[in-house]
Amino acid sequence: MHDFHFKNGELCCENVKVSAVAKSVGTPFYLYSYKTLTDHFLKIQKAFAKVNPIVCFAMKSNGNLAVIKSLIDLGAGIDIVSVGELKKALIAGADPKKIVFASVGKTEEEIAFAIKTGILLFNVESEPELSGINRIAKKMNKTVQAALRINPDVPAPTHEYITTGSLKKKFGIDLRTTKQIFKSQRKYPYVKVNGVHIHIGSQITEGEPFVGALKKVVAFIEELRHEGVTIEYLDIGGGLGIIYKDENPQTAQDYADKILPILEKTGLKIIMEPGRFIIGNAGIFVTKVLYVKDNGVKKFVIVDGGMNDLIRPMLYDAYHEIVPVKKTTAAKIKVDVVGPICESGDFFAHDRLLPKVDREALLAIMSAGAYGYVMSSNYNIRGRVPEVMVKGNQFEVIRERESFKDLMRGEKLPKFLK
Ligand code: LLP
Repeated sequence: MHDFHFKNGELCCENVKVSAVAKSVGTPFYLYSYKTLTDHFLKIQKAFAKVNPIVCFAMKSNGNLAVIKSLIDLGAGIDIVSVGELKKALIAGADPKKIVFASVGKTEEEIAFAIKTGILLFNVESEPELSGINRIAKKMNKTVQAALRINPDVPAPTHEYITTGSLKKKFGIDLRTTKQIFKSQRKYPYVKVNGVHIHIGSQITEGEPFVGALKKVVAFIEELRHEGVTIEYLDIGGGLGIIYKDENPQTAQDYADKILPILEKTGLKIIMEPGRFIIGNAGIFVTKVLYVKDNGVKKFVIVDGGMNDLIRPMLYDAYHEIVPVKKTTAAKIKVDVVGPICESGDFFAHDRLLPKVDREALLAIMSAGAYGYVMSSNYNIRGRVPEVMVKGNQFEVIRERESFKDLMRGEKLPKFLK
């Protein structure tokens, strides 16, 4: 599953001791295993080989240059949501013909840059957006390809904030409008609307919701085809769940076994957009215990990492396993693991049974590779932490810790305060 394991009582990432990285870069930091993240990508590619999909890594889950280059070098495409991600993907060497662009709010600047780049597909989320792309493409005298992101109006068993396939959410286009657009293609002469896109949500551990949504979409595509519409691409999005606690998620192969028959029958070019499945368990967040305190009601383990570094527990009440980096035989006690930030929501775990730890102990917060660093902030004027990648017995800093100078960059006093 992943390459974080104990060797001689020490947590290692591949063949590198986590404590050795801490000694070299200080704490807190993110640590990624090259082997785990590339293995996960290859697993998907292998499981779906029959339809030879374009596997576009959802870069929103982890946009580090070294992470995306590791995948691009193996043939991955990239799923982007902003011009920033697009520019970075290009720097990492992504093939524009393997880039897909979803976002409910693409700006004119973003659309123009993506057209100039020659990306494979715009995943369009509304009719006004499609008209806008057509207008901009006309101005640039270019023709582009687009898939319509369908909102299939299906529930997804995951956290409310990360379900996307219901009409109560802002994503995609309802089926009636989608059909109207496909049938009025002539209104968009600079856009070849030849694809369908779905993404029903994230951290979905079972196959049924995907199968249900896909069946609905495929039936809809058949209907469109009968009415003379030509479709070439089917982008099935991301959303595959991983193990954080005691989930028993489907493997890439289980997922493939369930949906390959449906995909094959369509004869369409398949695109996939996994994010968390590839990088989630390939990364950990390492933090150091600063103090331990007991207020008579609760015991708190206060660490140097905070909600600004990893916001998932606060935002989604997400569970992340926490393990001391040095194995200990100390008895387990119930603690809250909290950060230094001025909010009660600044926690990594509530009432967690952990071996008793002392000051200076290192803790690994597991499965933090996806939506970890990318969602971090400078709240409380805290510099963002470094990211480190391990390959075999080597490790390298792939993003430096932000300095105070970085934190002050761009800020200035107005004349009237000088
Ligand atoms: N494609 C689209 C259009 C998406 O919106 C997303 C994720 C993905 C693919 C990748 O989904 P994945 O395979 O990673 O589940 N911050 C939240 C997750 C937000 C997901 C946003 N969209 C979290 O920490 O759980």
